[in-house]
Amino acid sequence: MAKQEDQFKKVLSHAKEYGYVFQSSEIYDGLSAVYDYAQNGVELKKNIRDYWWKAMVQMHENIVGIDASILMHPTTWKASGHVDAFNDPLIDNKDSKKRYRADVLIEDYCAKIEGKIDKEVAKAAKRFGEAFNKEEFLATNGRVLGYQEKINTILARMGKSLENEDLEDVKLLIEELQIADPLTGSRNWTEVKQFNLMFGTQIGASADSSTQVYLRPETAQGIFVNFLNVQKTGRMKIPFGIAQTGKAFRNEIVARQFIFRMREFEQMEMQFFVKPGTQKKWYENWKETRLKWHLSLGMGAENYRFHDHDKLAHYADAAADIEFKFPFGFKELEGIHSRTDFDLKAHEEYSGKKLQYFDHEENKSYVPYVVETSIGLDRMFLAVFSNSLQEEALENGTTRTVLKLPAVLAPFKAAVLPLVKKDGLPEVARKIMNDLKWDFNVFYDEKDAVGKRYRRQDAAGTPFCITVDHDTLEDDSVTIRHRDTMEQKRVKISELKEMIKQEVEVKNWLQKM
Ligand code: GAP
Repeated sequence: MAKQEDQFKKVLSHAKEYGYVFQSSEIYDGLSAVYDYAQNGVELKKNIRDYWWKAMVQMHENIVGIDASILMHPTTWKASGHVDAFNDPLIDNKDSKKRYRADVLIEDYCAKIEGKIDKEVAKAAKRFGEAFNKEEFLATNGRVLGYQEKINTILARMGKSLENEDLEDVKLLIEELQIADPLTGSRNWTEVKQFNLMFGTQIGASADSSTQVYLRPETAQGIFVNFLNVQKTGRMKIPFGIAQTGKAFRNEIVARQFIFRMREFEQMEMQFFVKPGTQKKWYENWKETRLKWHLSLGMGAENYRFHDHDKLAHYADAAADIEFKFPFGFKELEGIHSRTDFDLKAHEEYSGKKLQYFDHEENKSYVPYVVETSIGLDRMFLAVFSNSLQEEALENGTTRTVLKLPAVLAPFKAAVLPLVKKDGLPEVARKIMNDLKWDFNVFYDEKDAVGKRYRRQDAAGTPFCITVDHDTLEDDSVTIRHRDTMEQKRVKISELKEMIKQEVEVKNWLQKM
């Protein structure tokens, strides 16, 4: 646990030190759970968004994109169920006056038991060495099975109580498990209450004539209300999808995991409209497709797992998370939801407008069913960033900090470094940079010894360093150094562009799907 916390602290400080993420309004001591993306962060974020957009929109002729407004007619949120049901169960500690999400307290308790399982696994792996079979151990070891059963029982009871709105039982569970305030150790809890997560604001000049509106808590509703507009103007045939990326806002109470849970964040969502009765097939299809997208980035299959929901949201008939192994354990990265016809039907009812599709093959109209894929861009950023940050022991006894970002996502693809700041080397280096920058984000650096500059680029996540030396003036060749292997190669300047392209081009990564 302490090791995890250490790793997470390193992620936070590295993100700041290397210009990825800053706390919002830091000079005023920041605003809780709100963050700004800095000069490198904004590039990484854009590259993740593009990687998603290309995979979802450009590569699917039956998926198109939109960009709906953050502010929507307030009835939208009545219809979607967010006004009545977008709540978190909160509990206050009477001594510390701190407020917590009751379900998160219980989940954290279970995560601690999971930590015990991990310890047993690590111990056994050490004992059995190469002969160790993790799957077999997890399936047969008595202590591990006991821990797992405890987790399952707790989560099943919590899921059932939340589904039945039995908040008394949620409190009882917290008491039975003797869960204490993580900050003070106090077990003096209030009742559990529901709290709506939407941010409200007013539209209009005066208090009398103003209308209460909400900052959207998900981008999906902008897609639902535009369903027929897009279908008709795009002459879309079912099955088809509408994709969107954009800001969403939630008044999160648990706000302590950096950009994992923010009050203002960005979602990348796609609603796939299908014939009623085929939703199960499409749900499975999108689960598989989305996992493949993640795996194409090469961040390790062992770092992903599916978690099928026991407790379904008010709109879903099936739902699963793709969980990722963050520095604080496996947590939700993306949701795949079979949302039925709930949203379109509700908007029909509240707007009085038909939101139906005429199926020529069936010769009838119907309200389509929807399978949704929904991923938080900031969460994906954290997954990529934390997974990439590594400390490596080198052969010469030193260590290096390296940010092994997938090259396709790296903010800068290459840094051009003249060996010295004289003898015409900076001029050649600048010329190389000016040629390459038409195709890639390229960085120029001539300060400090070249070894120090390599380290700086390693830590910033730049996949290639191109060094211009005195031989370059003679043979038009440069040294290209690979961030991950530190391997250095001599190549012709004229070959640089093609070489870098092979490594960073979206096509070459997405084709791994
Ligand atoms: N339209 C469905 C929907 O919004 P969700 O599970 O509430 O479903 C989808 O959110 C994704 O959005 C999550 O898997 C997560 O990646 C991201 N997300 C949700 N709340 C977030 C928050 N407070 N901060 C950052 N990302 C968040």
